[in-house]
Amino acid sequence: MSLSTVIYAEFTSSALATQAQPSTHTPEMPRFPFPDRPKLWGTAVSHYQVEGDDVCDWTRWEEAGRTRGEPCGQAVGTWDRYESDAGLALDAGANAFRFSVSWSRVEPREGHFDDIALERYRRLVDHLIAIGLEPCVTLFHYTHPLWFHGRTPWSSTASVERFRRFAARVAEALGAAVRFWLPLNEPLVFLLAGWFDGQIPPGITDAGTLRRVFDHLLAAHVAAAAAIRECVPHAAIGIAHNMMAFAPERRASFLDTLLAGAAHRCYNRSLIEAFATGRWDFILPPATRIRGRRDDLPRSLDVFGVNFYSRLHLRCPGTKRFIGEFAYRDATGAGLTDNGWEIVPEAFPALLEEAASAGFPLVVTENGLADANDRLRSRFLETHVEAMARANVPVHGYFHWSLLDNYEWLDGFGPKFGLYAVDRMTLLRTPRPSVETFRRLGEAFLGRSVD
Ligand code: BGC
Repeated sequence: MSLSTVIYAEFTSSALATQAQPSTHTPEMPRFPFPDRPKLWGTAVSHYQVEGDDVCDWTRWEEAGRTRGEPCGQAVGTWDRYESDAGLALDAGANAFRFSVSWSRVEPREGHFDDIALERYRRLVDHLIAIGLEPCVTLFHYTHPLWFHGRTPWSSTASVERFRRFAARVAEALGAAVRFWLPLNEPLVFLLAGWFDGQIPPGITDAGTLRRVFDHLLAAHVAAAAAIRECVPHAAIGIAHNMMAFAPERRASFLDTLLAGAAHRCYNRSLIEAFATGRWDFILPPATRIRGRRDDLPRSLDVFGVNFYSRLHLRCPGTKRFIGEFAYRDATGAGLTDNGWEIVPEAFPALLEEAASAGFPLVVTENGLADANDRLRSRFLETHVEAMARANVPVHGYFHWSLLDNYEWLDGFGPKFGLYAVDRMTLLRTPRPSVETFRRLGEAFLGRSVD
């Protein structure tokens, strides 16, 4: 999700400069990378963005006119096409497939689980295994069942148990065939957008609850990880963390530089430190200190996933907001994506190195761009994969966002992130030329022979 949907130009310069302790994470038996498949090359989708006809909190958000584009509706119909869509990933040279499970489909009423929905995901997993794609399952990708916010919102401790129970049911249903699990996608983005500036459901703007909500999200991760490992002892548990590069708009400006540093510490480092040390302590603007501790957090993780898209340029004071402003800019001449994001592979290695400082094996869980005419996607792929190789840390997997053009949250169906274009009327999928680049890069990454 775009940071512009999330932030809030009011970064303070008072963020704490906490330093991560070197990780003490020493799993007895590493669960990741998988010995028989040490590298993953895949595509990523999320349930709401592709499946269609899923009634959840986001549907209500659309009905309330809180999104800019068309409502999601049938999305791109993947619910009925998962197997053929997985085939498209395979055709593009993938050996892994990241998708998410819809909580609202699986538990439409609190405590009532829909076995047919679980069975549908089970069939997908069986199919992925049969065609040789490693399933990577995300459990939380922004949406909630309709009952959730009213009964057990993330500010209540009951939320943790609800999520654990959902995770346990999914793990039971999908079984040991799924080795790679991501309980949460971008918990910090969700915290900021859902509970701080209220742009996404549940649409709350209450700095007073952030500390509790963040703690519950991390507790939910830990509880889900334990529930998954109970069913699938060899499971590799990951987190997908959105990382953004931040730069001072004016290099010589002390305040711009301070602001960029503060943004980096709060947006990028906080979650890395939390998983590395079990403690977090950061400041959200204007002066909300979020700190907490969960000693079991480092042990709950086996893989650190990075979602990387772009860079923001920060200025303080801003022209409209004294406290600061941010913008995307084409600072290097690589061009802007269709939705105006800077393409900046040069920032990627340092962010990967920073993520690796948590002490877990790394995977890129998302990276991609909106580019309807496919003018920039091949070069984007090449330069990001090169940048990944330049990082001073091993990267064990790469998932491209996205396999298909899909529903892009607040922006509806405008931005086209797909390796495959989707016709909105016929739902016909057509490979964009950059599929060939993705395939070629995948061959090299996986060390397969190139035809
Ligand atoms: C989110 C996706 C979203 C993508 C592009 C990621 O941060 O996980 O759901 O489509 O950004 O905005």
